[in-house]
Amino acid sequence: MKITSFDHYKDVYKHSIEQPEEFWAGIADTFVWRKKWDKVLNWNFKEPNIKWFEGAKLNITESCLDRHLDTIGDKAAIIWEPNDPSEDHRIITYRQLYEKVCQFANVLKNNGAKKGDRICIYMPMVPELAIALLACARIGAIHSVVFGGFSAQSIADRIQDAECNIVITSDGSFRGNKEVPLKSIIDDALVRCPSVKRVIVLTRTRTPVAMIKGRDVWWEDEIRKVETQGGKVCEAEEMDAEDMLFILYTSGSTGKPKGVVHTCGGYMVYTGFTFDTTFQYQPEEIYFCTADIGWITGHSYIVYGPLSQGATSLMFEGIPTYPSPGRLWDIVDKYKVNILYTAPTAIRSLMSFGDDPLKQKDLSSLTKLGSVGEPINEEAWHWFDEKIGHGNCPIVDTWWQTENGGHMISAIAGVTPLKPSYAGLPLPGVQPVLVDEKGAIIEGNGVSGNLCIKFPWPGMLRTTYGDHERCRQTYFATYPDLYFTGDGCLRDDEGYYRITGRVDDVLNVSGHRIGTAEVENAINMHSTVVESAVVGYPHDIKGQGVYAFVVCPNQHGDDELTRKDIMMTVARIIGAIAKPDKIQFVTGLPKTRSGKIMRRILRKIAEGDTSNLGDISTLLDPAVVEEIKAGAL
Ligand code: WT7
Repeated sequence: MKITSFDHYKDVYKHSIEQPEEFWAGIADTFVWRKKWDKVLNWNFKEPNIKWFEGAKLNITESCLDRHLDTIGDKAAIIWEPNDPSEDHRIITYRQLYEKVCQFANVLKNNGAKKGDRICIYMPMVPELAIALLACARIGAIHSVVFGGFSAQSIADRIQDAECNIVITSDGSFRGNKEVPLKSIIDDALVRCPSVKRVIVLTRTRTPVAMIKGRDVWWEDEIRKVETQGGKVCEAEEMDAEDMLFILYTSGSTGKPKGVVHTCGGYMVYTGFTFDTTFQYQPEEIYFCTADIGWITGHSYIVYGPLSQGATSLMFEGIPTYPSPGRLWDIVDKYKVNILYTAPTAIRSLMSFGDDPLKQKDLSSLTKLGSVGEPINEEAWHWFDEKIGHGNCPIVDTWWQTENGGHMISAIAGVTPLKPSYAGLPLPGVQPVLVDEKGAIIEGNGVSGNLCIKFPWPGMLRTTYGDHERCRQTYFATYPDLYFTGDGCLRDDEGYYRITGRVDDVLNVSGHRIGTAEVENAINMHSTVVESAVVGYPHDIKGQGVYAFVVCPNQHGDDELTRKDIMMTVARIIGAIAKPDKIQFVTGLPKTRSGKIMRRILRKIAEGDTSNLGDISTLLDPAVVEEIKAGAL
């Protein structure tokens, strides 16, 4: 939605909360529907039961592809920049993307996929990844993308939880100077996944792979088959607005990852609306989101949001520091990028290389900047503003979560005022509230509390796959009739929101969400470990680092080697992204008499703030605290 002034925003916002159904119906009208809804919204947060656009029929790919053919068929939908800058880039127009999606949708059908099937996607950042998502959506199959950095064990857990019958992967992926053998990792995962009957393998790295007869097929061979069948068209499956579109697993404070479920109608409307509104996208603009499609940011703001709005979405296979820390700036310069959407961790990392990588880079095409994933500190904000945005690009700091589907609290580029380190004001339709410990809503400004949302928005999760009770427990049971985000938050004197970080046992490491319980479980798998406790600590680049306190009495005497063994264990069980940054060996953990680990104390020690550990008299063995303090890393 194009918003012309701050006053206009205020009017729109007022309307959106006074007449939410009318407001969202107006937005929804700008998308393609086979049949319009009978009712805009039906909801309660008790069960929860949330239904948007009930009775409506659609296929999201018709809004992302078909509708653009006659108008912008020759416009670039995806610009793809490879990991290695000397390899050719690719430009895929809306018409080409439409054809490729239809072709691959036919491949899926030829391989037995049908509406409602769950399909696991484990792929590098190549256009075929976006094509795979859209092809699933085209035939009504539910995609479950697993980020390329997760281990075989993590993939297996996710495949089993969703009972996927097909996996789409590639021989390998290029990331910086590394080559990751994706297919081989999938092979390890599939030993434990009897539900999988077919693996479709894209050629990317030419890494040798084991192709299992009757199970594995090559993407390219399958495309050739549909080409001879003349398959550049594939009628889109008609979906109910509330049919599942995808599952995306994310970490919580306890146990195993949850499969967050998003549905077709609401997700389409919300991602399209927020993309258009937050960035105030103009038709000729080149938009570059540096996220990976393995995370929600990539789903919503590389694929679905930009494409439903007819944008040109730039997709980058590599990493910001390869082959040099000027890589992102080279890309901006090469394609004359207008909108750059990235993460604070990337900004801090690039900032640490100084100004050299910026020399001779023309960044004058940039007009809008975005940040996502974690709180952005003021130093990084100002560097981003001055060095990258040449002091005149609005920075939209977008706060939201996997469960939200799209932006929730954010500035609107060029419209609402900016405050460094503040996400700002809620987008239209979003009703944040702050609550105190007891769950009472805190009114007024200049206050802090736990951030909740009191009214549904179309992009919100509907359930956690296969376990609705878990969804209720996690998000809707802490405070009655509110969606609880898990974030702490401050609302300043003017009503601007500043997210202060998670208040639960969830870490945000380089913008990746990691559950401390998951990391502990992984560490405890190591043969010499008796128990462990994991907390976060402030990290200059990553935002938060992973600090593990490990009880490991029978190790072989070489601390360094044991540390590496534990790291290796975590990489095997979860993936390299969850590896602890620091491992401190301790003889015991501070516990209450009832056996509960006092994380508060460990967090303080990890933060290097041992001056005031609070009351430790209730501990089973207060002496252990002294030992841990003395050995802190
Ligand atoms: C958590 C959600 C959906 C974005 C990618 C991460 C933190 C996210 C911001 C921001 C401060 C932020 C929150 C949130 N977070 N964006 N702009 N400012 N914190 O999605 O993995 O679901 O993590 O990321 O703590 O709860 P996610």
